Amino acid sequence: MDSRLRQMERKQKLYSLLKVQHEAEIQELMHYMSILTTVENNLVHSYLHTLLSDGLRHIEYISRIMAGIEGATGSASLTKKGISVSINDEKESRDALLRCAEMADDPETAALLKSISVDEEHHIRILEHLSELVGSAK
Ligand SMILES: [Fe+2]
Repeated sequence: MDSRLRQMERKQKLYSLLKVQHEAEIQELMHYMSILTTVENNLVHSYLHTLLSDGLRHIEYISRIMAGIEGATGSASLTKKGISVSINDEKESRDALLRCAEMADDPETAALLKSISVDEEHHIRILEHLSELVGSAK
């Protein structure tokens, strides 16, 4: 068989294996996140946070390798249009969380939900700045 063809097949095989691993890492994250709330013990909580942040890093690395195989024209690139979609998502989250805060009966829950909505507000600012940076890069 032509060696270039064989090389392409190897790359495709690698890509599909990475894709499976990418999905597996996401499943692991979802599982750790779901048990995080059931854990009171500080050490266990801290271990779970380590697993989560490692998993996030692994997903980033794997995505980067996959994007390299796909070529420079990766679908998930940083664009003004993509950022504006994210800004809308963050705005919707902020508003939904505020509505939840209003519905919460105990003040502690309301304060917690409001603090998340403040974070979302911060995310919106970051994304707006990112959008300016992407705009000025062109
Ligand atoms: Fe956010």
